Amino acid sequence: MNTRIYRTDLEPLEEIVKVCAGLLEKGELVAFPTETVYGLGGNGLNAEAARKIYEAKGRPSDNPLILHIGRKEQLYELVTEVPEKAEKLMEAFWPGPLTLIFGKKDCVPDTTSGGLQTIAIRFPSHPVARALLCACDFPVAAPSANLSGRPSTTKGSHVIDDLNGRISAIIDAGDVPIGVESTILDLSGSQPVMLRPGFISAAEIEHVIGPIAIDPAVTNDNIISHSIETAHPKAPGMKYRHYAPKAPVTVVSGETEAMIRAIKTHADESTGILTVDEHQDRYDKGIVLSVGSKEKPEEILHNLFDVLRSFDEVKVDRILAEDLSEEDTTGALMNRLLKSAGGNFLKTDEL
Ligand code: TXA
Ligand code: MG
Repeated sequence: MNTRIYRTDLEPLEEIVKVCAGLLEKGELVAFPTETVYGLGGNGLNAEAARKIYEAKGRPSDNPLILHIGRKEQLYELVTEVPEKAEKLMEAFWPGPLTLIFGKKDCVPDTTSGGLQTIAIRFPSHPVARALLCACDFPVAAPSANLSGRPSTTKGSHVIDDLNGRISAIIDAGDVPIGVESTILDLSGSQPVMLRPGFISAAEIEHVIGPIAIDPAVTNDNIISHSIETAHPKAPGMKYRHYAPKAPVTVVSGETEAMIRAIKTHADESTGILTVDEHQDRYDKGIVLSVGSKEKPEEILHNLFDVLRSFDEVKVDRILAEDLSEEDTTGALMNRLLKSAGGNFLKTDEL
């Protein structure tokens, strides 16, 4: 398939949006930027478009898609009930990186919801996403625009690497602002449950609606102890190996000096080392890539997927990553790093 690539810095947004909304209307797939990561969009009310999304990503079809809307009012057409807590959260965080799960109305095909009776809804804030969604009179189903299992895409070039030739169009708007996927909160049961940590932290949500539960399957301890396979996460996507570069990743933890020494001892020329600016000069072997400065946790979160993808280009045999717990302000950074490592987390003396 010939994939049309539209660059927002070269062509007027209005024209790009017009053509791409037309493709979506016809059931074709279009990748587009959101403030979190790029999304792989298809008409959310069209079961055939959902099937194409699963196929283009190589994604298991029991893994439900998030419906993206450009106007809040669309929500009421798609879900059975909007609890008061949802109204408060939408007031506080929409448009923005918070996905909410509700009971699903019948107009949403089972193929889109992965067979579940609930549906995830997101109202993104990125101007290109908003323009595209507002030009569609249907919700747009969009998982992250990466091949299944790979790190999510935070640049147009990442999307081209993964999906060129597999979908009808890609809207390339360069770098996305946040770089990690939305926080997912399930409001379909009696108590709100966080199913995936993201840019909006549990504390920020609790500030608005009071205590929430966290799905045990997505806590760092459970990812490390591999109990995720047995823990049956409520977000089906959280059970798969995810965000992984081609080389195996090990996260190394311990007191800073001991951690650096252990990584240096075990690294050779073909080892990838994932570090921070402050430690970059300490390593004399291997391919050393920094995710940013310890002083700027948001920058580290923003760069993580890009750095994980960069290791594929330089072809390393294994990746030793520094523990970034101290830089994790939202809970999303270590969740993604540990998942990219398949839970492989070792103390310096275990390496
Ligand atoms: O930031 C984001 O959320 C990005 C951008 C493109 O909006 N989208 C994204 O979608 O990350 P995806 O499909 O890569 O991840 C969605 C996750 C999956 O783990 C899926 O299993 C879970 O949300 N999910 C979706 N609908 C669900 C539902 N009804 N119940 C439980 N989990 C659900
Ligand atoms: Mg994804």
